[in-house]
Amino acid sequence: MSFPKNFLWGGATAANQYEGGYLSGGKGLATADTVTDGDMKNPRKIVIELENGERKTISRFEDVPENAKAIVEENNYYPSHVATDFYNHYKEDIALMGEMGFKTFRMSINWTRIFPNGDDEIANEEGLKFYDEVFDECHKQGIEPLVTINHFDLPLNLAIKYEGWLHRGTIDFFVKYCDTIFRRYKNKVKYWLTFNEVNFLRSYLELGITNASNIQKQQQAIYHLLLANAKIVKLGHEINPDFKIGLMIANILFYPETCNPKDSIAEMEISRGFKDFYYDVQCRGYYPSYKLKELDRQNVVLKKEVGDEYILKEGVVDFISFSYYNSSVISTKKNSEGSFGNQLAGVKNPYLKESEWGWPIDAEGLRLVLNRLYDKYQLPLMIVENGLGALDTIEADGSINDDYRIDYLKEHIKQIKKAVEYDGVEVWGYTPWGCIDLVSAGTGEMKKRYGFVYVDMDDKGNGTLKRAKKKSFEWYKKVIETNGEDLE
Ligand code: BG6
Repeated sequence: MSFPKNFLWGGATAANQYEGGYLSGGKGLATADTVTDGDMKNPRKIVIELENGERKTISRFEDVPENAKAIVEENNYYPSHVATDFYNHYKEDIALMGEMGFKTFRMSINWTRIFPNGDDEIANEEGLKFYDEVFDECHKQGIEPLVTINHFDLPLNLAIKYEGWLHRGTIDFFVKYCDTIFRRYKNKVKYWLTFNEVNFLRSYLELGITNASNIQKQQQAIYHLLLANAKIVKLGHEINPDFKIGLMIANILFYPETCNPKDSIAEMEISRGFKDFYYDVQCRGYYPSYKLKELDRQNVVLKKEVGDEYILKEGVVDFISFSYYNSSVISTKKNSEGSFGNQLAGVKNPYLKESEWGWPIDAEGLRLVLNRLYDKYQLPLMIVENGLGALDTIEADGSINDDYRIDYLKEHIKQIKKAVEYDGVEVWGYTPWGCIDLVSAGTGEMKKRYGFVYVDMDDKGNGTLKRAKKKSFEWYKKVIETNGEDLE
C-alpha cells in the first residue's frame, strides 16, 4: 500500500473567501473585508481614508500612508462579505464533504468573529458557538478539522490603532485569541496551522502597517509574527499535548533558467528570501545566518526582548505544511519571456502547460518539493493547498464536466504517491484548495473556481448560492475510498 491507512484526504477553505456573514453574529471588520473585487488585468483595490478625511482608491499591495486607514465604501463590491456563505450553508457543505469521504477539512477561524476588534476584553460567545457547531458537524461526518488560526484576516481595528504586527502588543492579542480557541476546542480540534502563507504577508492588509515597503517596519512586523507563531506552538502543547501545530508556507518551486551558475545563485537567493527563511525559523527555531547578514546589509535593526531566542527555540512546529500550485523560473537574463503564478511572476517554462490564469502546471515539481523538505528537516509534511483555478461550464443537463481539474489533481496525487512509495517521504495529508467553490484571493473573482462542488454565484455577487456536484466530486470520492489507489 502506498498511502498510509490514516492518510488525511480532504479539502481546504478560508473564512475570508468562503464564510461570508461579515457582520453577522457580532463579527467585527477584518482587513480582508475592505478588499474589492478585481480580475487578472485590474488588481483588487482598497479605499483608504487619509488623515484629513480625504478618500483615495489604491491597489491592495500599495503602501498606505501613515495615519491613513482602509474603509468599507458603500458603492464598492466586496466579495468577502457574502463569499459563498458557508456561514449559512455549513451543514449542507460539511454533509457534501462527508459524502466525498473527507477525513479532514481545512478551514479558518475568523479572528474578528471571536474578538471583533482584536483587543477586546471578552470573547464573542456567538462566534465561539458558531465554530462549536461547525466542528460538531464535522465530527458527525467523521471529519477531523484542520484549523488555520489566521488566514489573511487581521482585525481592522488592530491595523488602525496599533499598526498591526509592528506593535509587539499584537503578539499578546493573538496569544489571547489562541488561548481562547485552544481551550474552547481542545477536544474538537487536533490539527492547527497558525498563519496561512506566512511568506506572503507583506502589505498593509496582512501586516496592518502603513508604508509597508519600508524594510525596517516590514521585518520588525515579520519578526513579531514569527515570535507569535513560536509562542502559540508552545501554548498549544501546554493546553493539549496531543495538538499537532504547523505554520503554513506558500511553496513555489524555483528553477534556474539555464546552467549558467549566475542563474543558480539567483535561484538560491530568491528561494531563501521567499520561503527558506520561514521554513528555517519554524523548523530550527532561529534566524539563519544568511538572513542575519541580509538584515545587516539592509541596516535593519530588529527590536528584541530578553528571552526572545528561547521563545523561537521552544516553539518549533510539529509538521511542515505548505501550498503548492506552480513552479517558476528564475533568470538573470533581461529579456526572457514572462509568466504568472501564485502572486509571484517568473520566466516562462517551455516544458510546462499553463492554467487559464497563466499559472504553470508542474506536478513533478511537487515530488521535488516534498523530497527537498523532507531531506532538509525530517518532519512530516502536509500539502494543505493545491488545485486548478478554472472556468467551469454548466451543460444543458446541469452537469459540470471538469475533466481538466481531475487531470490536474490526478497528476499531482501520482507525484505525492511516488514521494511516499518510492522516496519514503512521510506525508500526513492532502487538502486540495477551494473544495467547495469560493472567491479567489488573488483576483477576487468567482469564476476562477477550484471546487468539487459548484456554487451559483458570479463575480458581482449575483446568484442563488445553490450547490451542485461537479464530475470531479465522484472522482475524488473514489480516490478517497480506494486510499489513492484508483485515480481513474
Ligand atoms: C493561496 C491562498 O495563495 O492560494 C488562498 O492561501 C488562495 O487563500 C489560493 O485562494 C489560490 O489563489 P487564488 O488567487 O487563485 O485564489
